[in-house]
Amino acid sequence: MNYRHAFHAGNFADIVKHVILTRALTYLQRKDKPVFVLDTHAGLGSYDLESESARKTAEADDGIGRLWPHLDGAPDAVAALLAPFADAVRSLNPTGEPRFYPGSPALIAHLMRPQDRAVFCELHAEDHNVLAARFARRKRIRVENVDGWQALKTLLPPPERRGLVILDPPFEARNEFDVMLDGLEAAARRFATGTYLAWYPIKHETAVAAFRTGVGQRFKDALLVETTVAAPADAAFHGSGMAIINPPYTLASELDTLLPWLIERLERTPGAGACRIEALR
Ligand SMILES: C[S@@+](CC[C@H](N)C(=O)[O-])C[C@H]1O[C@@H](n2cnc3c(N)ncnc32)[C@H](O)[C@@H]1O
Repeated sequence: MNYRHAFHAGNFADIVKHVILTRALTYLQRKDKPVFVLDTHAGLGSYDLESESARKTAEADDGIGRLWPHLDGAPDAVAALLAPFADAVRSLNPTGEPRFYPGSPALIAHLMRPQDRAVFCELHAEDHNVLAARFARRKRIRVENVDGWQALKTLLPPPERRGLVILDPPFEARNEFDVMLDGLEAAARRFATGTYLAWYPIKHETAVAAFRTGVGQRFKDALLVETTVAAPADAAFHGSGMAIINPPYTLASELDTLLPWLIERLERTPGAGACRIEALR
């Protein structure tokens, strides 16, 4: 396990992933009933963008760095949908400079209501310790040093009947797309009504095409959301995808409003910014 998210936090892919996460969770919280959230690959929780790791790649400069000046200037329809994400980022940065960036655990913790519950899994021992210390005082958040793929088997189905699972593996292993498909399928068998958000990188078109086909074959109700910010010739990692199984019915139209505005701000190669929202039913 070489991957450390501290080098990448706050980049364009994090922004798109986290905006989708906040929209899906906000939807599940429309009713008072408790919601369970499982984050299978949680990372550090939140990130200092001035850290040595973050400065080494400066990826956040092209992500939250580009977006931050526009957070207050979005058109009303976009601002309303962006609010849960924007509020979480602002709450970490009261001085007005984007120094800290919330990872998925910090976003989930920010949005949780008293009746909600979350489990964050992180396999890297050091990162797990940081994450566990960060949420030690939160009674309804449990942090576990376990394999997220195993957690899909041991923690699902949850006693709460409403649940969201986010899968955000590092994509270090060659077979990560297949592991993801198998993990999603096994999880959905155990907890059929859960909403699943599975992130993937857009680097190699053949692998992504096979994954899209796999999602279509294995799930009855899924949404594929793919965004591109650069031309493949300018950056190997030029786009970001999210497969959403059992998506909230409002999500596609919300993302249709949000993503074009977001991509315009995050685009690196002029004209290469694009987003594609495809419902597989
Ligand atoms: C892409 S990062 C997660 C970022 C986080 N979801 C966020 O949005 O802030 C992937 C994380 O998964 C951890 N990891 C790798 N393999 C794992 C496994 N099998 N189970 C749980 N965590 C794992 C890595 O140490 C890394 O911190």
